[in-house]
Amino acid sequence: MSKKRADLLITNIGQLATPRGKKPARGEKMSNLRVIRDAAVAVKDGDLTAVGTGEKVLHDYTAPKELDAGGHLVTPGFVDPHTHIVFAGSREQEFEMRCQGASYKEIALAGGGILSTVLATREASEDEILDQSLPRLKRCLEFGTTTVEIKSGYGLDTATELKMLRVIDRLRKKTPLDVVSTFLGAHEVPPEYRSDRDGYVRLLIEQMIPAVAESGLAEFTDIFTEQHVFDVSQSRRILQAAKEAGFKLRLHADEIVSLGGAQLAAELQAVSADHLGAISARGIKALAESGTIAVLLPGTTFFINLESYAPATALKEAGVAIALSTDCNPGSSMTESMQIIQTLACLYLDLPPAEALSASTLNAACAIDRGDRVGTLEPGKQADLVIWDCADYRAIPYHYGVNLVRTVIKKGKVVVGGL
Ligand code: NIG
Ligand code: FE
Repeated sequence: MSKKRADLLITNIGQLATPRGKKPARGEKMSNLRVIRDAAVAVKDGDLTAVGTGEKVLHDYTAPKELDAGGHLVTPGFVDPHTHIVFAGSREQEFEMRCQGASYKEIALAGGGILSTVLATREASEDEILDQSLPRLKRCLEFGTTTVEIKSGYGLDTATELKMLRVIDRLRKKTPLDVVSTFLGAHEVPPEYRSDRDGYVRLLIEQMIPAVAESGLAEFTDIFTEQHVFDVSQSRRILQAAKEAGFKLRLHADEIVSLGGAQLAAELQAVSADHLGAISARGIKALAESGTIAVLLPGTTFFINLESYAPATALKEAGVAIALSTDCNPGSSMTESMQIIQTLACLYLDLPPAEALSASTLNAACAIDRGDRVGTLEPGKQADLVIWDCADYRAIPYHYGVNLVRTVIKKGKVVVGGL
């Protein structure tokens, strides 16, 4: 029998670990990885065409190019489904203030926080924002993330929000990552509307959402539903308008105060509800019934030093699919590393390493509606994978605070490192 032709074979994989399927893994299924020893994969036209033991894949396939994985671990590339990596400026001075006892909320109420980044982002040119954001996106890739969601939200006026969305679009063209873009005009109420908060809600509904829809620059609309930001009824009006304009929905919900953002996410059939540190029992039930994915951000809880992490075990037991993300942003979680998020999820959300991996690949892909293309290593999906400097997937959360990535392959091409 003649062998089938592929473009590339990756051989000598000591351990290949991947979740399976196109739909989010829930409950016990989150720990159900396919683990293959002495594995190989075949790639054709940027997609995986075979995944199995080396013996079987090499028996069936031939290719003009072969990469030897050196006996190392291979997993799917991480999917980071919640980031704010496009912004101007930096906020290490606020970090210092927090080290001296100020809380994240106090700094925000005093005019720092999100608003300080809004001012810097309004002032910066599109090229300056691009130049500042590109190294962050490159760092995502170097740390093993191959698909990323990026939000606007530091403009809070139509022109600056569109400027941010254009930067996201230019980043997509400048790097090998897949980039999913989200309009977050409802991230905060800008200074000029502080005494007319409902006026900003009207601006969002009447001007900003239609302008962003017209631009075609965003796939999702997101909102910060939180005390002192947008309440549930304002959030409902904004998200309804976005839905009618054709956007898919996601929410920053129940992060610090239990306002009922999770129930709203379920009611509006949002793809994801994110943060959830203060979600109620009713919120958990609502997410379980609607199928909305819970995107948990332990890096944020850690970095702003909150006491209570999202109730991952209760969510899991209720059958809610859990995804993980960095929430990379200049205030509450300044990291591009999904690797450190694995460690935090294992220790503070009680997710075992296998579940953390599923939550950062398959479930994260589903949280941005990409479960059919990425998030697992299976024939028919994109050949997005990481070769690690370790031999076992449990070493990723275990060996923390360092970069264990050896090689990143995106759509079948080596984009980071060599072999
Ligand atoms: O997801 N929750 C609101 N937004 C970001 C924080 C943004 C900032 O501080 O600049 C978050 O944590
Ligand atoms: Fe966020």
